[in-house]
Amino acid sequence: MLANPGEFPFPIPVGWFRVGFLDQIAPGRATRLRFWGQELVLVSTASREVGLFGAYCPHLGAHLGFGAVVEGERFRCPFHAWRFDLEGRCVEVPYAKRIPARARLRRYPTEVKSGIVWAWYHPSGEGPNWPVPEIPELDNSEWSAPTHHHWTIRTRNQEIAENTSDPAHFRAVHGFAEAPDPEITFEGPLYRSVTLSRVPRPDGEMAVSRLEVTWHGMGLGVVRASGAFELLVVGTNTPIDGGAVDACFSFSVNRARGLRPDKGAGRAFIAEAIRQMEQDIPIWENKVFAVRPVLCEGDGPIGAFREWAKQFYPHEA
Ligand code: FES
Ligand SMILES: [Fe+2]
Repeated sequence: MLANPGEFPFPIPVGWFRVGFLDQIAPGRATRLRFWGQELVLVSTASREVGLFGAYCPHLGAHLGFGAVVEGERFRCPFHAWRFDLEGRCVEVPYAKRIPARARLRRYPTEVKSGIVWAWYHPSGEGPNWPVPEIPELDNSEWSAPTHHHWTIRTRNQEIAENTSDPAHFRAVHGFAEAPDPEITFEGPLYRSVTLSRVPRPDGEMAVSRLEVTWHGMGLGVVRASGAFELLVVGTNTPIDGGAVDACFSFSVNRARGLRPDKGAGRAFIAEAIRQMEQDIPIWENKVFAVRPVLCEGDGPIGAFREWAKQFYPHEA
């Protein structure tokens, strides 16, 4: 490890990251974004196709997130009006017959699924090596339309994901009566934690509730709570740069089970998830990354989690 003591020793992880929600992106727009320490432009065409590109025009460096004009399925640089297609290729220079071969934008692979705009980040531009995550609840009309809650957090994706494999903090930070004792599985880019607990029902009987957290790489942690009701938290964490994360919780509840996001148990669950996130944030923002932590019995699978996490830093091996 080359990092100084306390410094986070890994670069920005590779993977699929949420760069937008389709319902918040107007068609026919070019929007400036900043993720992975890069200036970016997200282009949404008239037919709602989207493309994500490095922001700077290869001609003389204009920022396409400030004034590019989308025309149909193409977009035009504001400086000298070179036109680009959704592959990032320059398709027209209005005052020249020949288009220079290198007139191309860096294009990030993107895919829209279940209303989420995903983009693949790899520091040297290699393509995706696992598919965009599926979240079937978001395409099921029994589930409420997701509501989003954003935070900008001065931390790294790995610190947020490591929370799931840290049972002892649930008592100290979140006030749980008992530390959870989840069953953990790792499979390729997936990491799943399942906790079963017995909770009292309103009629006094005990019911089993199931809490499943599935990480798809470092950019998505899906929480599914089921038992007497069914609730979903889609946690998407996108690195802004090496020291900050744009974190979002998107909440949905199963209306077929009598739940509403703005009432009763649905509302209480959402408030609790937000409360827990906001309890974690000051810890993450002020901690160091312990490269060689002093662990003890009861600390759970932190070591196994860190082994799993290494796959997202391909140049560090
Ligand atoms: S800088 Fe973009 S067309 Fe000249
Ligand atoms: Fe936590």
